[in-house]
Amino acid sequence: MRTALMFAMLLTCAGAQAEPARSGDQVFKANCARCHGAQADGDTPIAKVVKPPPPDLRRSGLSEAQIREIVTHGGEGVGRSPIMPNWGFQLSTQDIDAVVAYVNGLKGRVDGVKSAARSQ
Ligand code: HEC
Repeated sequence: MRTALMFAMLLTCAGAQAEPARSGDQVFKANCARCHGAQADGDTPIAKVVKPPPPDLRRSGLSEAQIREIVTHGGEGVGRSPIMPNWGFQLSTQDIDAVVAYVNGLKGRVDGVKSAARSQ
């Protein structure tokens, strides 16, 4: 009886244990840094060979909603380069929320440089 109860409790606990939420910084380092750079400055080997290069996200002129659009639907989904992947299928909603907030928070983080508005 006691064993059965313990077993039932263990099962319930295992089922209830959710993945710990990842921070935007963690999601970025794991998925975006290889193209956009660990500092999001676009300084990567890939940026030297693809056109257009993955941009310096600190200088992005996009609104948070536009960042969410391109992250969720990919470059192709918003009429831009298909090299920017479509993360809507690969990341959970929580990860997308976290990374969008993180990238949006980077804007204007360059000394003396105001984020340049980008004409699309
Ligand atoms: C395989 C390389 C690659 C990876 C990985 C990648 N990107 Fe990109 N990203 C690009 C390229 C290339 C562009 C430029 C698209 C264009 O201008 O046509 C871009 C553009 C963007 C833009 C638009 C910036 C602006 O101001 O115009 C945002 C925001 C962005 N990426 C966020 C992310 C995030 C967040 C991740 C990770 C979840 C990510 N990217 C992963 C290649 C990549």
